[in-house]
Amino acid sequence: MKTLVLYATKYGAARKIAESLAESLSDADLCNIKEGYPTNFAKYDCVIIGSSVYAGSIRPEAKAFIAQAVSALEGKRLGLFICGMDAQRYEDCLKKNYPAEILQQAVVTDFLGGIFDPAKANFAERTIFRAASKLSSYQNTIDVEKIKQFAQAMET
Ligand SMILES: Cc1cc2nc3c(=O)[nH]c(=O)nc-3n(C[C@H](O)[C@H](O)[C@H](O)COP(=O)(O)O)c2cc1C
Repeated sequence: MKTLVLYATKYGAARKIAESLAESLSDADLCNIKEGYPTNFAKYDCVIIGSSVYAGSIRPEAKAFIAQAVSALEGKRLGLFICGMDAQRYEDCLKKNYPAEILQQAVVTDFLGGIFDPAKANFAERTIFRAASKLSSYQNTIDVEKIKQFAQAMET
C-alpha cells in the first residue's frame, strides 16, 4: 500500500507527527502542503492529511488544499489527524474544519497531540495560549503510541 502524507505546520510539531507516521507506514511519501504536493494521486492507495490547530482552525494551507482536492481524493483511503494541545475540542475542530464528505470518507481520524514551545511562539500567541490553556512552559504531548495505531489502521 502506498500512502501520501500531507501536513500543515507553523512551528514543526505537525511535521514531527507526519514524519513518525511516514516511518510507521510500509511505503509513504511526505509533503509539506505549503511547499507543494503532487497534483495526481493515482499512485496512492491512501492519503493522510494532518494539520496543527490555532484558535480552533487548521492551517490556512490545509483548508485551501482540502477545498480543491475533494474530487481528487475520491476512492482513496483517507486519514485525518489534528495536531494540538486541546484534545477535548478535537471533535468540534474536525467538524468545523473539514467538509462533511471528507469526514465521512475518512477511515481513521485522530488527535495526536502537539508541542507548545513558548520560545517559538510570539508574544501575542504566548499570551492567548496561556490565557486559554493555563500552560506557559514547554509541553510535548505527541502520542507515539497513537501514531503507530493510526498508521496500522490506515493499512488494514
Ligand atoms: C495562539 C495559539 C492558539 C492555539 N489554539 C489551539 C486550539 O484551538 N486547539 C488546540 O488543540 N491547540 C491549540 N494550540 C496549540 C497548537 O496547536 C500546538 O502548539 C501545536 O502543536 C502546534 O503545531 P505546529 O508547530 O505544527 O504548528 C494553540 C497554540 C497557540 C500558540
